Amino acid sequence: MESIDIGVDDLREWLDAGRPVTVLDIRNAAQREEWSIPGSVHVGPQAAMRPGPPETAAGVPVPPGQPVVAVCAQGRSSQLAVQALREQGITAMSLRGGMMAWSLAWNLAEVDLPGSRARITQVRRTGKGCLSYLVASEGAAAVVDPSIDPEVYQRIADERGLEITHVIDTHVHADHLSRSRALAGRCRAEVCLPEQNRVSFPFRALRDDEAITVGAIEIRAVRTPGHTLESTCYLVDGRALLTGDTLFPGAVGRPDLAASSEQARQRAHLLYGSLRKIAALAPEIWILPCHTSEPIPFDGKPRGAPLGEVFRQVEMLNADEDRFVEVLLSRIPPNPPNHLEIVRLNESGEVPDDPTRLEAGANRCAIS
Ligand SMILES: [Fe+2]
Repeated sequence: MESIDIGVDDLREWLDAGRPVTVLDIRNAAQREEWSIPGSVHVGPQAAMRPGPPETAAGVPVPPGQPVVAVCAQGRSSQLAVQALREQGITAMSLRGGMMAWSLAWNLAEVDLPGSRARITQVRRTGKGCLSYLVASEGAAAVVDPSIDPEVYQRIADERGLEITHVIDTHVHADHLSRSRALAGRCRAEVCLPEQNRVSFPFRALRDDEAITVGAIEIRAVRTPGHTLESTCYLVDGRALLTGDTLFPGAVGRPDLAASSEQARQRAHLLYGSLRKIAALAPEIWILPCHTSEPIPFDGKPRGAPLGEVFRQVEMLNADEDRFVEVLLSRIPPNPPNHLEIVRLNESGEVPDDPTRLEAGANRCAIS
């Protein structure tokens, strides 16, 4: 009998190639609200097991011959749904490992920077909404905020004839486990982090305004404390600012993670100062963050926006300092799942064999 499962890599390639497939999300509504596969259709757990009319899967019309992939939380109840769908004559498969496994799926988007000697590729962890960057120039490359398997960055670099010379983080992350140390070890690159005394492994400490040379370009550190005390943005060839969790196209970073309420207030004031520092840059500079709160479609469109547009859209950026701090502190979202454990691992530089258990769920580093 044909396999009842499809793996994450195969489904990722199908979606990337635009191959027609109906993805049926059979989890309950609360689980789906947390995160989902872009373009998937929600039918819920009961509907998925009920036989429906011909050429439908759980009531969803399916063109003849088009495969259906059922997705649940961990890839078990989706197997039962697939059996029911196959009895109806539908070509159905279950996503092996469910959303837990999908957490590591990724896609790419090129950032168009006219006139720049840098090529920036946004490497996106689609389900979780983590954004990392491959910044390349003249055969050399830096990876910023890597959040997926080091093998993926290495493969893309190899395909493009690039040597990864630097691996950089914007801050000690709380939403995902940093792959910086593992990636740097693999390609014998230098790990570069903002100057701080949080992490316990060796790294090159970057001070404010210090630059790294990659091929023909400079990546310059712009110290922007607030989201965390060490948070640092990186200005690439004077054209794009990799902002980590400090500034997003529609939001700013949260100041409260792993902090007391008094520390959160102090950080909110620091964040205000950091955002004024960013506001002094040219309005056409691209703002490229390291997270989104939405799953990222396979659309090849980078998530980011010019600085001038960001300041027009995010109302709180135009408030005075006291108002900014009050608004920010009144809108603190729930904590990301397992954030204290993730911070602890990022400070020690460890990545567990199966990181998905800790990382499951959406990112929550922004306040809009
Ligand atoms: Fe963060």
